Amino acid sequence: MKQDMIVILDLGSVGNSQLARDIRALGVYSEIHPHDISAAEIKALPNVKGIILNGGPNRTVDGKLVCVSEEIFDLPVPVASMNVPDAPCPEISPEGLREFVFSKCGCAANWNMENFISDQVEALRARIGGRKVLLALSGGVDSSVVAALLVKAIGDALVCVHVNHGLLRKGESEQVVRVFKDELNANLVYVDAVDRFLDKLAGVSDPEKKRKIIGAEFIRVFEDEARKLNDIEFLAQGTIYPDIVESGTKTAKIVKSHHNVGGLPDDLKFELVEPLKFLFKDEVRACGKALGLPDEMVFRQPFPGPGLGVRCLGAITRDRLEAVRESDAILREEFAAAGLAGSVWQYFTIVPDFKSVGVRDNARSFEWPVIIRAVNTVDAMTASVARIEWPLMEKITARIISEVKGVNRVCFDLTPKPTGTIEWE
Ligand code: XMP
Repeated sequence: MKQDMIVILDLGSVGNSQLARDIRALGVYSEIHPHDISAAEIKALPNVKGIILNGGPNRTVDGKLVCVSEEIFDLPVPVASMNVPDAPCPEISPEGLREFVFSKCGCAANWNMENFISDQVEALRARIGGRKVLLALSGGVDSSVVAALLVKAIGDALVCVHVNHGLLRKGESEQVVRVFKDELNANLVYVDAVDRFLDKLAGVSDPEKKRKIIGAEFIRVFEDEARKLNDIEFLAQGTIYPDIVESGTKTAKIVKSHHNVGGLPDDLKFELVEPLKFLFKDEVRACGKALGLPDEMVFRQPFPGPGLGVRCLGAITRDRLEAVRESDAILREEFAAAGLAGSVWQYFTIVPDFKSVGVRDNARSFEWPVIIRAVNTVDAMTASVARIEWPLMEKITARIISEVKGVNRVCFDLTPKPTGTIEWE
């Protein structure tokens, strides 16, 4: 193992992620662990060079003030605390972090993607051996990076299943096949489930029902494929650090619970492989870049699990779904050409389930509108509307009304979140 590590023990701080990021910014790897981890468990972690107890407002559990096990202070590495006044170790301030990490703990600044990847490859090979791993490869950033990392580590022993549910953006499924099957030689099972999903969704207009159908059907398709494969022992997931940190350690408040491929039936018993579970999103992207994945895959904007299904409002029809897909492709192309792709947080189109009157070729038309949404946000909890220059909006409008079949009108959604959510359904 190449990287030194500082362990952060969570004593109810709300700033654990920030502290981990501050240490990583110094070039030193760090992990957050719960306050009740044992000294033996810390010893079993690779290359631990120092420990920081990170205190804060959530330090009481069931009315009792929590602290760490006494034995932790006997470990042969320096221990310091932040905001834990009663701890039997020196208290350090944020300014003292560098001094603690380098002078006191003797860490080397050896946290970088090359070392992370080589450590992970080594660890994955040791754990998995020649056994088989299954991965649901959606083509999103996290699953793509997991796939690339596992292909590097275990090659053919990784079986990727890509389910095309017909609700992906233009060219997305093709890109997954091109990058993973053709370029990286991954063992990829491509499942064309478009009809299966669209048939299930036919006539369903309630947004929550649509989401539930898409989620449940995804698991069913994935499960069907998994049953056809023999000897799978592991299931890989693109869980990343915020999923774990936000789901709450024992002292941290639960922000939201996360589900990945959760809900698989009990008779499919796999051990989980989650090689990105200690990386923040920007680090996942850097990892993907270092593994040679294309920029469009690594720097893509967030995309909801139910895909275009929640942007084709009401009961999904194939023609309106095509209108969403085509208008979205035009919007992305024009934003990229205008240099906005990396600066606007999320932008997409929506097609509602009503028509409006217009004129086309000197005759009355009765067609759908396309709604453009473009927002900026830090954490997706609140969002502001991106200010897009008129000439670009006019160009996009002109292209959509001339190139997208069945559309005669383009609108721009000016609503911040709140009151509007980012998605419409
Ligand atoms: P809302 O619409 O709630 O969206 O303001 C906030 C962010 O979450 C994305 N989103 C989803 N992401 N599965 C996901 O992985 C989902 O079901 C889902 N629904 C919304 C949305 O695109 C936005 O970035």
